[in-house]
Amino acid sequence: MQVCYRYCYLTMVTCVIMVCMYLVFLSPADELTEDICACKHCVRQQSRSTWFNELYDLSIPPLLTRENYMLSGDVYKYWKDLQKNTNEANYTEVVERLFSLFPDNEHYLDAGPARCRICAVVGNSGNLKGSQYGHLIDLHDFVIRINKGPTEGYEKDVGSKTTHRFIYPESAMDVDNTTHLVLSPFKILDMEWLISAFTTKNITRTYKKVRPSVNANRHKVMILHPAFIKYVHEIWLLKHGKYPSTGFLAIIFALHICDQISAFGFGADQYGNWYHYFEKTAYNLRTGAHSGSFEFDTMMQLYLEYKIQVFRGR
Ligand SMILES: *[C@@H]1O[C@H](CO)[C@@H](O)[C@H](O)[C@H]1NC(C)=O
Ligand SMILES: *[C@@H]1O[C@H](CO)[C@@H](O)[C@H](O)[C@H]1NC(C)=O
Ligand SMILES: *[C@@H]1O[C@H](CO)[C@@H](O)[C@H](O)[C@H]1NC(C)=O
Repeated sequence: MQVCYRYCYLTMVTCVIMVCMYLVFLSPADELTEDICACKHCVRQQSRSTWFNELYDLSIPPLLTRENYMLSGDVYKYWKDLQKNTNEANYTEVVERLFSLFPDNEHYLDAGPARCRICAVVGNSGNLKGSQYGHLIDLHDFVIRINKGPTEGYEKDVGSKTTHRFIYPESAMDVDNTTHLVLSPFKILDMEWLISAFTTKNITRTYKKVRPSVNANRHKVMILHPAFIKYVHEIWLLKHGKYPSTGFLAIIFALHICDQISAFGFGADQYGNWYHYFEKTAYNLRTGAHSGSFEFDTMMQLYLEYKIQVFRGR
């Protein structure tokens, strides 16, 4: 009897402790995961840290449409000052021409309990060299690549699938018929270039020589919303750098349209060198127009809060 009392007492205490631990460590948000998405982890799930919850704003549209193209005064001013702008094209008219050529669809509004979309964002860091990540990258539903980062000849390390490629005129390259070409417009001329690249091909210079045309499926072209660029720069990067890098824009884009995100090919290699996996010369990409280190620190914070996985390569 004596033993049982002690035993029951201990059991009761253990139970009370476990209930308390459950209440303290498992916030209600954890139990709601299955209503948010069908993956194991859902990026939309409320974080326990206020940092992520305060920055992550799903009301900002990632992509431009005819419905949402109007820019508020502060977005327009921000966007106009990003890069030297000598042309005075009428924004409304340029957008009208854009959507007479390219699809005007709302995309990726399908977030919900039935969706598990797993995305890889593949940067161009030299740390991909010899990483053997190719197979793993290709297993993702979406594989988002950046600027000129090639796959041909690098398949073992970077994979071969590309569902989206983020470019701007000065970094453009051809994509195959199944890939979404995603323009990141840092100025109105970038939108005019996109139109020209699929029609007259007569824009050959921006602030430097650019490709007059690009091979891509016109029906799959997408344009980032200027308000999204401002949001990434001011809210996520606290205005570090002149504007966000294409790679960082792609990471936040993925946070908005995917349920689970892995980042490959960001940051330095194991020796601290910042360079592109497809270029021989190692040069310092940390400086320049972007704040490479602040962007990388922000990515690492996302990693620490289980919002993205980061594969560091070698
Ligand atoms: C731009 O074009 C639209 C439609 O053609 C016109 O209504 C508007 O006044 C123009 N804006 C400027 C600043 O010229
Ligand atoms: C590319 O895809 C579009 C439809 O998305 C199709 O109309 C076109 O014929 C395709 N072109 C090639 C070269 O396969
Ligand atoms: C390109 O061609 C169009 C139509 O022919 C013309 O309106 C436009 O001014 C030209 N742009 C340049 C930069 O030559």
